[in-house]
Amino acid sequence: MDRYIFGFPEMLEIVNDAKAKYILVTGGCGYIGSHLIKALLIIGKKIINIDNLMNSTENSLKNLPNVVTCHISLSDENSLDQIFSKYRIETVFHLAGLKSVKESVLDPLKYYDNNIISTITLLKIMKKYNVGQIIFSSSATVYEPALKSLQETDPINPKTPYGRTKYIQEMIIEDFINSEQGKGIILRYFNPIGCDPELIESPKNIPENLAPFIIKVLKKELPFLTIFGNDYDTTDGTCIRDYIHIDDLIDGHIAALNYLQDSKKVDIFKSSSEIFNLGTGQGYSVLEILKEFENQHRPIPFKIGERRKGDVPVVYANVEKAKLFLGWSSKKSLKEMVKSIIKSV
Ligand code: WQD
Repeated sequence: MDRYIFGFPEMLEIVNDAKAKYILVTGGCGYIGSHLIKALLIIGKKIINIDNLMNSTENSLKNLPNVVTCHISLSDENSLDQIFSKYRIETVFHLAGLKSVKESVLDPLKYYDNNIISTITLLKIMKKYNVGQIIFSSSATVYEPALKSLQETDPINPKTPYGRTKYIQEMIIEDFINSEQGKGIILRYFNPIGCDPELIESPKNIPENLAPFIIKVLKKELPFLTIFGNDYDTTDGTCIRDYIHIDDLIDGHIAALNYLQDSKKVDIFKSSSEIFNLGTGQGYSVLEILKEFENQHRPIPFKIGERRKGDVPVVYANVEKAKLFLGWSSKKSLKEMVKSIIKSV
């Protein structure tokens, strides 16, 4: 079965395999989504991908066969309904959403409308078709900043509209799961970096994150990296983050899926939805990241700029809960993360 790209549900007949059970990935053309789809295909899952291509193109999946991609918005209830009526969907990975912190501050309503309404529409259709399993892509940005490692039970206090939409979605999903006796897992990502050379990231907007900017300098599309402040209360004055290899992050998703689908395990959920950090438990500063590039490749030219609004000095994960419940922990080192970025350039 070839990969089909279409935007009109009536074409669903062509590829529908009525007996099969499918995994629905929303936002599957994105950085995380494309890596997740590849991993799900490798373990033999059948995939339906819904992506409105606001942030990416289907180029990212072009090396992946057998992925059914629908170019629709999650807010398009009719099209969503037709997809759920044609495919037996067993679990939903909900990754789709706008994710620029800076843009969310400039245009909060765009973020509340896109991220919240699409999630409510998705859950309404899941309810209609009795799809009760969801794994949601959340973010460490929901936490109240702290100088210690962050646990899932730590105070929540997102500072930006983007972070607030993540936490609001977490609460909506939790309430949905409780009311429908379903099962849900919320994954709070720390800072995923690295990439699979087979997956061509094709973001439409320039991601503001550290790794994409370093890649632009490596590709000589930028003369230097601007480090947003070196006067923080950290070892070298630059911000510390918990960078995690994309492969480890995706393994965390597979571990979450296995946990969700193992009925024996899932009954020990304290509530019907559980939250897990996906990080390494180790923080690195911006300068330490640049040092690793210099060790492996060449110095990354940089200049010290102003602090970026909203940045906090330290963010890193306590990862004990995922280790205990999911049997998952990150495996790849900073050296391997940097190596995968260098290889992708
Ligand atoms: C990391 C560090 C910057 C770019 C955000 C979201 C979070 C998640 C990950 C979605 C910071 C510094 C960066 C540059 C720099 N996204 N930096 N120069 O801000 O920790 O988290 O992305 O889920 O939700 O909040 O990641 O990569 O933007 O920044 O100095 O050109 O690199 O100041 O200290 P962040 P980041």
